[in-house]
Amino acid sequence: MARLKTGVLISGSGTNLQALLDAAQDPDYPAEITLVISNRSDAAGLARAEKAGVATQVIDHREFADRASFDQALDTALKAAGCAFVCLAGFMRLLTADFTESWRDKLINIHPALLPSFKGLDAQAQALAAGARISGCTVHFVRPEMDAGPIIVQGAVPVLDGDDEAALAARILEVEHRIYPLALRLIADGRVSVAGDQVRISGANGAGDAALISPAG
Ligand code: GRF
Repeated sequence: MARLKTGVLISGSGTNLQALLDAAQDPDYPAEITLVISNRSDAAGLARAEKAGVATQVIDHREFADRASFDQALDTALKAAGCAFVCLAGFMRLLTADFTESWRDKLINIHPALLPSFKGLDAQAQALAAGARISGCTVHFVRPEMDAGPIIVQGAVPVLDGDDEAALAARILEVEHRIYPLALRLIADGRVSVAGDQVRISGANGAGDAALISPAG
């Protein structure tokens, strides 16, 4: 079976990219990582891709007059590499509506909160400030509005007394590394469909881990 040719856009450390690369090592995984693009030449994720033998490209947003021309360069590079699908993994640029609409339902993002709560930057700090007892992470289809779009997979983690932003972020990140490869697998297996604001997943079997309740007692 042909694997879904996937491009990954990053700006930083790329631990979610690593989770996708690791999953795609398995020949039975239905997607392959074809190209990694970073808008920053110093993104540590670039080395992760090179180590995995995946092509990389730096497209520096500062070299473009506006968002539209930057996004056009992304689009051209993705298509030239044959990518049919795109994952945002810590990509810190807002994309134009032209780009997100032309990749509609072929473009996903991971966010470190249970959307629709805590959109935007510093989602973990927002959860702490709000006194949330449970937070988590979300993989969703990208729409023109930031951190909006049909939700594919979510993972919950407890917020513990004494957590600081780093502790909560680390606990969430571990779950990110599980749900991002899962979401891409479900999509590449053809099990995901979008109906309006909602995602349907064929053959989904329950919730995996037991329900997460926080505090436990
Ligand atoms: C993750 O927390 C992700 O949810 C957010 O940016 C961070 C990227 O981390 N969008 P990494 O570069 O994958 O390590």
